[in-house]
Amino acid sequence: MNSWWKKAVFYEIYMPSFADGNGDGIGDFKGIISKLDYLKELGVKGVWLTPFYPSPKVDNGYDIADYKNIDPDYGTMEDFEEFIEEAHKRGIRVIADLVLNHTSSEHPWFKESRSSKDNPKRDWYIWKDGEKDVPPNNWESFFGGTAWEWDEQTGQYYYHAFAKEQVDLNWANPEVREAMKDVMKFWIDKGIDGFRLDVINFLTVSNEFKDNPYLENDEQDHLYDKDQDGVLEAVQEISAFAKSHGDIFLVGEVGSEDLEVLKPYCGEGKLDVVFNFNLGSQSSFSVDTIFSEISKMEENYTEDQWPTLFFSSHDMPRHCERLAGGIDPELRAKHLAVLLTTAKGVPFLYFGDEIGMRNLVAEKKEDIQDIQGRTAYELAVRDGKTEVEALAIGNEKSRDASRSPMQWDDSENAGFSSGTPWIRVHPSYRDINVKVEETDPHSMLHFYKKLLKIRNSVSALQNGCYEKIERRGDALFYSRTDDQSTMYVGINYGAEKVTLPDWFDEAVPCSVQLVEEENTGYLAGQDCQIRVDHRGSE
Ligand code: GLC
Repeated sequence: MNSWWKKAVFYEIYMPSFADGNGDGIGDFKGIISKLDYLKELGVKGVWLTPFYPSPKVDNGYDIADYKNIDPDYGTMEDFEEFIEEAHKRGIRVIADLVLNHTSSEHPWFKESRSSKDNPKRDWYIWKDGEKDVPPNNWESFFGGTAWEWDEQTGQYYYHAFAKEQVDLNWANPEVREAMKDVMKFWIDKGIDGFRLDVINFLTVSNEFKDNPYLENDEQDHLYDKDQDGVLEAVQEISAFAKSHGDIFLVGEVGSEDLEVLKPYCGEGKLDVVFNFNLGSQSSFSVDTIFSEISKMEENYTEDQWPTLFFSSHDMPRHCERLAGGIDPELRAKHLAVLLTTAKGVPFLYFGDEIGMRNLVAEKKEDIQDIQGRTAYELAVRDGKTEVEALAIGNEKSRDASRSPMQWDDSENAGFSSGTPWIRVHPSYRDINVKVEETDPHSMLHFYKKLLKIRNSVSALQNGCYEKIERRGDALFYSRTDDQSTMYVGINYGAEKVTLPDWFDEAVPCSVQLVEEENTGYLAGQDCQIRVDHRGSE
């Protein structure tokens, strides 16, 4: 299996926040097109676009009202086509975020479905009897509150795992599956190279509708509303369909940190890869977790299962601060950049991380744009919390942290837009921006460029398996090898010096070194080394 995606470093573009081409304060395709040379130079080979379809944007596009069009905020279909063409010209493939689990309540399918109990589309969604104010069961929405919404007109509840404006489709209905395959075909015909499949493990729910239990921390254990019977069959069907139309890459969002839950979704006949939250979504830094999760994936994944690597996304705070753990965020970010680009797996780099962007904090409730943050704020107020406490809770849950506009330069609005940005620009933009980092050889941007260059040119980094993985104190050492090259990586996350393992020391002479340094026999505190031995060449 040597598909194109194994060689690619992907870059996630959060549509509204990357580059605004028409001055309305919202990112768009014209803006992205103008930055394609930047992406090419950075070395990314794939771009993941968050949803760009027409949407009321209750959840910034993850509430789709028309699956076969472009939201006017992002441009026109012609802009999209131009973008695909220009990206491809530069050797950049494009994957589209596709939300198969739910539609916007404004989607014509749902409007039909809710119009009467005997409408042909009634069964496209999940409707249940119940009494007003007494929902069918205790299932909670992932944004807070009940997952059931009472529909006055037809006297039934409908199910929504997220906001009430994001209505869950009934994947047990074959017509729904066909409709979604038709959507996939539409975008494949437009030149899309793959899909990021949103909350793919949510497609089916248990048809017994039993109450979910609660965990010790009082949070609901979503036992019956995800990873249910029928979901793997649905995934296989989607995969077979996509693969019958070419080497279409499928990456699934399976919201779990448990490798045992993630594993069944990927491999031959299923999704190519899933997001490995087991490695990527730690809330605090731990070398232990990194070492054990990498080792676990190595032991548990079969040959056709390939990991993914990411540490930030539009759903989580940027890792340079989230995982700093008391050290300089820039240093932490550099350590994780090395892991991201050299460990085994498909790397997903979140926009702005390559320049070390920081997390946005809301100073007042009006600043909170994200539905998850706003809901948490409102529930806290309802529970009697003070304004200050509620704002803190809102900030903790809000995903705005990583959604502030890309910082291109130090001009007004960080060069993102000539209008008023839809979300505040992070105040750090005068020091942290592309323009300034382009001229500084020691910048984060240059560091990433160097790493991506190595990643793109060393085959062991793309296809190679681990030969060795070893932990020494706070340092991690591994080697990856294929028939052309072997690559040795040492990352010391701690401040103490660590002696190099024998096998690492023997890795010289090497033709590429990230950190030029004397062979001192130890890895200096908080340092990283990459050595690549090109077998038989150079
Ligand atoms: C995924 C998306 C997230 C969205 C949710 C509901 O987790 O990444 O942004 O809110 O699905 O569609």
